[in-house]
Amino acid sequence: MCGIVAAVANRNIVPLLVQGLQRLEYRGYDSCGVAVHNGGLRRARSTARVAELLQQVSTEHLEGTTGIAHTRWATHGAPAVHNAHPHFSHGSGDEAEGRPGRIALVHNGIIENHEELRNRLKAKGYAFASQTDTEVIAHLVDSLYEGDLFEAVQSAIARLHGAYAIAVFCRDEPHRVVGARAGSPLVLGVGAEGSEHYLASDAMALAGVTDQIVYLEEGDLVDLQLGRYWVVDRQGDRADRPVRTVQAHSGAAELGPYRHYMQKEIFEQPRAIADTLDGIQAVVPELFEASGNHPAGEGAHHVFKQIESVLILACGTSYYSGCTAKYWLEGIAKVPTQVEIASEYRYRESVPNPHTLVVTISQSGETADTLAALRHAQSLGMRHTLTVCNVASSAMVRETRLAYLTRAGVEIGVASTKAFTTQLAGLFLLTLALAQAKGRLTESQEAAHLKAMRHLPAALSAVLALEPQIISWADDFAGKQNALFLGRGLHYPIALEGALKLKEITYIHAEAYAAGELKHGPLALVTSEMPVVTVAPHDALLEKLKSNMQEVRARGGVLYVLADADSRIESEDGIHVIRMPEHYGPLSPLLHVVPLQLLAYHTAVARGTDVDKPRNLAKSVTVE
Ligand code: F6R
Repeated sequence: MCGIVAAVANRNIVPLLVQGLQRLEYRGYDSCGVAVHNGGLRRARSTARVAELLQQVSTEHLEGTTGIAHTRWATHGAPAVHNAHPHFSHGSGDEAEGRPGRIALVHNGIIENHEELRNRLKAKGYAFASQTDTEVIAHLVDSLYEGDLFEAVQSAIARLHGAYAIAVFCRDEPHRVVGARAGSPLVLGVGAEGSEHYLASDAMALAGVTDQIVYLEEGDLVDLQLGRYWVVDRQGDRADRPVRTVQAHSGAAELGPYRHYMQKEIFEQPRAIADTLDGIQAVVPELFEASGNHPAGEGAHHVFKQIESVLILACGTSYYSGCTAKYWLEGIAKVPTQVEIASEYRYRESVPNPHTLVVTISQSGETADTLAALRHAQSLGMRHTLTVCNVASSAMVRETRLAYLTRAGVEIGVASTKAFTTQLAGLFLLTLALAQAKGRLTESQEAAHLKAMRHLPAALSAVLALEPQIISWADDFAGKQNALFLGRGLHYPIALEGALKLKEITYIHAEAYAAGELKHGPLALVTSEMPVVTVAPHDALLEKLKSNMQEVRARGGVLYVLADADSRIESEDGIHVIRMPEHYGPLSPLLHVVPLQLLAYHTAVARGTDVDKPRNLAKSVTVE
């Protein structure tokens, strides 16, 4: 998704801005650009990669001490140079066209009333050079400018409806950048000498530049000048936001022996799970108890005792981890659980229950639909909120009362892998904590579950050793156009996640079904050209699943089965079997998803797609 970097300094900041964009590349983008103050406004924009923008700025000798830069993921207007940010007021403001612009601006988010504002600005004589909603803000700031950029931005944002993080500078104020956020993240970086300051949509963009970060809050407006900065809140009052020391993530950007970040992140899962369990410290049973020291936060035990039901809200892969957790929460903790796609929940009429625990699940903690669904639930009077999230400083963690933080580390590949399995670990701990608070877990059951959790990193490492067998499956899949994924019970969401991974990075059309649904429609699709991946652990539903597999074989479908060691399913003509090292009871989804991640990864490599940055997709979807 879009990324912002901005700086005010007394040295040429173009290299810093472009390197910042490079650190944000993993989020996905389709164009990029940088603008600086250098006598007037100058910019370079491109629909190629940031590496080419770097070439362009050097060829064009673009230099300046104040500047803004952006990676764009198209929403309004096609991915084209004229739509790329930064936008200048007067649109056609390049010097070459003889109409120098006054305001330069970059924007993440979506302005909902852009049409109405555009019409008003056109009536005032502003010429538009792009189809973006962003250009509207540049003209709007220009139209309100009376010699003070901060005041102009403050007046402009009062007229905006929608979500934004913006960074703006003005031809007439060479050492000043103004930023604002509402609905999209923006952080302020404090320079080492205290003389230069930065803005970024993600602290990662500033890794190696500064570790002194101020997380701006909703409605904040920030004024950056050489040697000083200040923040005002949405009421216009001066706000003292704490400066935090944030460990730079630059190590995460190193691939090491891996070919892609996705592969690296798949192989990091044993460590990520171990770190998550260490972080939550819930492997120590006492920590579930009523002490204020609960791993989910103060008062968690009390809340868990009270609540009558759970409502899980999430998107995409995080939604599938929620679907898996429903089986645990109802099966182990006996708490009625509903899982909803956040973008559906936020707009439908529902019946709120104030005694429900609202659980949001998010890798980034900034996903616009999940955040909006959380706020919607809160507005309906649901006060008990908890998030399972990978980013401690995210809006989701700040806005929920309780949190289980996953410690997956930075996830760079657009396709989520280690975030998913660490979410599952967090959700399993939530299940145990709820079961314990409600007295639904005997000591020996609790001890057995905790023992299985502690053994997870080793069990995951054994599954990762299956990679060579998965590569041979991937060779078969590389030439296919369609695939079906089947699972039952706890492993139905794992089939859904496997199909999502395959489609998003290989572009093979993939669907997942609860295996019992096969004969109610999808069986019509099965031919010898339709590989059918079956997640077949040795659980209570295995015999039923075997019947579903027979239905596929009888129609000439080719089965790819992930079986447990003792599932008694043999490889034969039309049936390819990979045996999982051990059966893992209720935690089995954490293991079964790994071969599906590897299958998608190796199929994508065989097809030559851009594994880490699949087409049309972005990391951290901060727009609706
Ligand atoms: C798929 C994927 C997405 C995300 C979804 C939610 O591989 O990564 O489906 O899971 O966009 O993102 P978060 O978890 O950041 O809220």
